[in-house]
Amino acid sequence: MSDDVKVVKVEDVRDFNEIMEIEEKAFAYPYPIDLFIFDFEHHPYSEYYKLMLDDQIIGYCGLWIIFEDVQITTIAVHPDYQGKGYGDKMMEFIINYVKELGCRNITLEVRVSNNKAINFYKKHQFEIVGLRKQYYENGEDAYLMKRDL
Ligand SMILES: CC(C)(COP(=O)(O)OP(=O)(O)OC[C@H]1O[C@@H](n2cnc3c(N)ncnc32)[C@H](O)[C@@H]1OP(=O)(O)O)[C@@H](O)C(=O)NCCC(=O)NCCS
Repeated sequence: MSDDVKVVKVEDVRDFNEIMEIEEKAFAYPYPIDLFIFDFEHHPYSEYYKLMLDDQIIGYCGLWIIFEDVQITTIAVHPDYQGKGYGDKMMEFIINYVKELGCRNITLEVRVSNNKAINFYKKHQFEIVGLRKQYYENGEDAYLMKRDL
């Protein structure tokens, strides 16, 4: 993995054009750009971060930081860069960042079929704590996963 990679806060809504290119490649059911932009511009607890390799965005994540509780709303690495440790890098950033803020736990939902992501979260000490039936539009269930800090 290159040392030139860094995690930078998304401040400019125009970054979502590049983020959407990754979203559409990384997810079978991508979210529309309007949802990202609405969340970015109007949700008071929402923050987005981009993973930069030189001048290129190769990954991103979205957080809701609601006092002690953090939710990872999205996280993805461009498929060309998956499996190289970049996801780990973003997750380490998230955990260190929210620990410094004094947050107590992180939760997220993941498709029950998404073994790669479930493995990834377990590696970062998330545990399955619940099942949300038919959580996704295609009827798939979600695991609720949680990590205490
Ligand atoms: C999940 C995701 C963010 C992980 O990022 P990544 O850069 O590929 O992951 P890394 O290379 O840093 O690997 C970290 C860990 O993830 C898990 N992992 C990565 N690739 C995997 C694979 N092909 N199969 C199983 N587990 C895998 C492993 O636990 C791995 O740790 P290890 O290498 O020590 O075994 C990325 O694969 C992705 O964007 N997936 C598509 C979008 C998605 O599903 N996001 C999550 C939605 S809830």
